[in-house]
Amino acid sequence: MSNSAKPAVAAGSPWEPIALPKIAWGKGSYVHDCAGNRYIDGSGGPAVFCIGHGNTEVNEAIKAQLDRVAFGYRYTFTSDPLEQLTEIVQRRCGGTLQQAVFLTGGSEAVESCLKIALQYHAARGEMSRRRFISRQRSWHGNTLGALSVSGFKARRDPFEGALIDASFLSPVNEYRPPQNVRKEELAAHCASELEQEILRLGPEKVAGFIFEPVVGAAGGAVPAPAGYAKLVREICDKYGVVMIADEVMCGTGRCGTWRALEHDGVEPDIMSVAKGLAGGYLPLGAAIYSERIAGPIFERYGAPLTGHTFTGHTTACAAGAAVQTIIERDKLVEKVAAEGPMFMQSLRDALADRPYIGNIRGRGYFVGIELVADRESKEPYDPGLQLFARVRDRSFLNGLICYPSGGNVDGVKGDQIILAPPYNATRAELGEIVDKLATSLSQVMAAL
Ligand SMILES: Cc1ncc(COP(=O)(O)O)c(C=O)c1O
Repeated sequence: MSNSAKPAVAAGSPWEPIALPKIAWGKGSYVHDCAGNRYIDGSGGPAVFCIGHGNTEVNEAIKAQLDRVAFGYRYTFTSDPLEQLTEIVQRRCGGTLQQAVFLTGGSEAVESCLKIALQYHAARGEMSRRRFISRQRSWHGNTLGALSVSGFKARRDPFEGALIDASFLSPVNEYRPPQNVRKEELAAHCASELEQEILRLGPEKVAGFIFEPVVGAAGGAVPAPAGYAKLVREICDKYGVVMIADEVMCGTGRCGTWRALEHDGVEPDIMSVAKGLAGGYLPLGAAIYSERIAGPIFERYGAPLTGHTFTGHTTACAAGAAVQTIIERDKLVEKVAAEGPMFMQSLRDALADRPYIGNIRGRGYFVGIELVADRESKEPYDPGLQLFARVRDRSFLNGLICYPSGGNVDGVKGDQIILAPPYNATRAELGEIVDKLATSLSQVMAAL
């Protein structure tokens, strides 16, 4: 049996994926393996470890909770950690996003967001509203519902035929706009695609529109242009479509605001968060929804029908509350907002002039670097090279954890690298991440 998520090696490729080392321990921005190697965590794993590893306060909070009781089942008990985390999330969201269901990760959170949208329409007697609209080059998770609305070809392919029908709009990417669309027209063009699709389907059939405010693994930290989210909000309101922001990767402060869409001055109806919520200390995600969505659901059904056995797990909530308390107390979201541009600039200084760097983008401590074979035409590399995986492996051998993935151009072609350092990384650590990536890229390109 294998736990490995390594891709198959393309036929004839001289590159062999490295074998996974065994993890031993972590502290702050560093992780150590059992062979004594040290790695700087430049991507927080997959944008998870937002306050780094081995935080004593979080570990103590988890241990203290385990010493009291691990878990109070949600139909039997509430708990201090659940109430504390709920209060933190309500305060951080502000506005009308005041209801939350706590789950065990991002896919479960997205699954719940979709179901809350469906249940909202059902509660209002609109059972015809069953269809979701999403975008290409998006990733919403691995459960069947979340996968059904994910525009990530390689991850969908083996399951095609068994997925729920959904609509997919163009990716919203200033570097790769749809053909004949100028950069300054992109927001309006992509928003109008949403409106056209709602009208094509019939508004009475559409349950919700789900999107990542800053696209993660499927695109490579791609923010939408200014104004896009506001237009989406208006279109969703016009046609009674529920607006769902998937902030599993870009949320909980990663982009320099606690909610990623705060940046755009927009509140969605429903929002998923996960990775950074408990910072990787325990599995935790949340589906957060507005009072407007909650009203009909509570009136008709009493509660959203999305719970699982471990919903609101007491110790996971204790971990989440401890992580979020540190983030708030130490003003880490403010730090990400203040230092993000410096981090981006240092990457641009180190890499932007290289002929294989197509685009460096992102927001806060969520940065994507896209590799291209030709800067003029933006032609990506031959996917058979599995360049993104070579960069991942070379960086790892050089002691840097980063998060490259492929297929961001058309589902097959494209290589990009995500950096998502811990919010509390020092300037020296951020510099080390940039240096190690620059060295690793030089080595990979020299060996091509
Ligand atoms: C935007 C987004 N949504 C959902 C998910 C699924 O989360 P999980 O892997 O925790 O199930 C991910 C995971 O990468 C993600 O990036």
